[in-house]
Amino acid sequence: MVSKFRCIDCGSVYEPGIRFRCDCGGLLDVVHEFGDVDREVFDGRLGSRRGPYSSGVWRYKEIINPAIDLGHVVSRPEGNTNLYSHLRLGEYTGLEGLAVKHEGENPTGSFKDRGMTVGISEAVRLGAKAVACASTGNTSASLAAYAAQAGIDCVVFIPEGEIAFGKLAQALSYGARVLQISGNFDDAMRVVQEASAELGLYLLNSVNPWRIEGQKSIVLEMIQQRGWEPPDWIAVPAGNLGNTSAFGKALREAVELGLIDEVPRIASIQAEGANPFYRFWEEGGEALEPMTPSTVASAIKIGNPVSWKKALRSVRETKGVVEQVSDQEIMDAKAVVDGCGIGCEPASAASVAGVRKLVAMGVIDPGEEVVCVLTGNILKDPDASVRYHTGSIEGVEQRYANRPVVVEADIASVERALRA
Ligand code: F0G
Repeated sequence: MVSKFRCIDCGSVYEPGIRFRCDCGGLLDVVHEFGDVDREVFDGRLGSRRGPYSSGVWRYKEIINPAIDLGHVVSRPEGNTNLYSHLRLGEYTGLEGLAVKHEGENPTGSFKDRGMTVGISEAVRLGAKAVACASTGNTSASLAAYAAQAGIDCVVFIPEGEIAFGKLAQALSYGARVLQISGNFDDAMRVVQEASAELGLYLLNSVNPWRIEGQKSIVLEMIQQRGWEPPDWIAVPAGNLGNTSAFGKALREAVELGLIDEVPRIASIQAEGANPFYRFWEEGGEALEPMTPSTVASAIKIGNPVSWKKALRSVRETKGVVEQVSDQEIMDAKAVVDGCGIGCEPASAASVAGVRKLVAMGVIDPGEEVVCVLTGNILKDPDASVRYHTGSIEGVEQRYANRPVVVEADIASVERALRA
C-alpha cells in the first residue's frame, strides 16, 4: 500500500524519495492505493484532542498519506480552521450563500502549514538533514517553524525587500538561515531548485508533491464542515498554483472514494499584475508564458508559477474558471473582509474580489453557494493595512478607508473628534 510518484506528463512511476520531477521534467503526483474509507471514519475523529487525528490534515490520513508511520508525523496540529459568513460580505459580493474559510488560523498564520506538516514528516522519514524553500514569505515562515519543531536545519530563499514584515520576522525568529536573493520570487525559485539538487537540501516548495497532498485537506475539511455537502464554487487566490492543483486532486479523489457526488467548480483568482495563468487560460498556447510580476499582494507576486499544468487540470476537470483582479479590487475586498472583523492579508482577498467580479459578470449565479479561501492572516502584512487606511499605496484609492485621527490629549478635543 506504499504510495508512488507518477509523472503528470509521461506517466512514469517512481518510488517516493528525494525526487521532485520526472526524468522527462514533468511534475509528479502522489498516487495512493486507497483502502476503505467513509465519512464516518473522519466524523469519528472530530472530537480528537490529542495526537495526529486532532489535526485537520491528519484526520484525512487515508487520503493524504495512507502508508505513513504515525511516528514520523510532525504536527502542531494544523487545520481546524473556521468558516465565516457576514451580512456585509454577502452584500459586497452579491451572494447570500457566501462563506470564507480562514486558513490564516493555522499555527503560523497561513494555509502553508497544511502542506508543510506532510512535507516535513516525509523529510523525517527520509532522514533529511536540511530543508529549503523559495518563498514570497508564508512558505518560509511555515517551513522555518516546522523545521525547528523537527530539529532539522532550514534554509529559506526570499526575494530581497519583497516579503511582508510579519513573514520575514517569523522566518528569522524561528531560526531559519535566511538568504535574501537579489531578484524576485521566480529567481529565488530557480536558485533553490539548483541548490537542492547540488547541495543536498530537501526541497519543500509545492513542486514537492507531498505539499500538495497536505493542502488537499483545505477542501476535505471544508466539505466535512458543511455536513459533506459541497458548495457550488470554491474560490482561491492563485500564485504559484499549488492550492489550485491540490483542490482539484482532492475533489477527484473525494468522488473516487464516494465522499461526495457533486463537484464544486474551482475559481482560481490571480492579481492583474501577476497573471500568467489567467492569460494562458484566456489566450491558450502551447505553454504558459512567464512574465515580470507586479502587485501589492506580495504573496502572489509570481510570474512563472511552477504548478500551472496541475492547476490547469484542476480547473478543467471541475469546469472552473480563471479570473484576474486589480490591486484596487484586492485592497477594497480586503478592507471589507477586515471590516467584518474577519481580516486577512492582501493576497487572500483576491478570492473575495474575484467572486464579486464573477457574480457581476454573470458567471456565478447569486443563488449559488460559494466558499472563498482566505489564505493568510491579517497580521502577516500590517504595512498593507495601515498604508491603505492612510492613503499611501500608489495607484490604490481609499474607497473603504478608516483614517486615523490625531487629537490633543484633552477631553474637549476627543469630543470634537468623535462628533466630526
Ligand atoms: N495566498 C497566500 C497568503 C500565499 O502566501 C500564497 C502563496 C498564495 C495565496 C498563493 O498560493 O502558490 O498555492 O497559488 N505563497 C507562496 C509562498 C508562494 O512562498 O509563501 P499558490
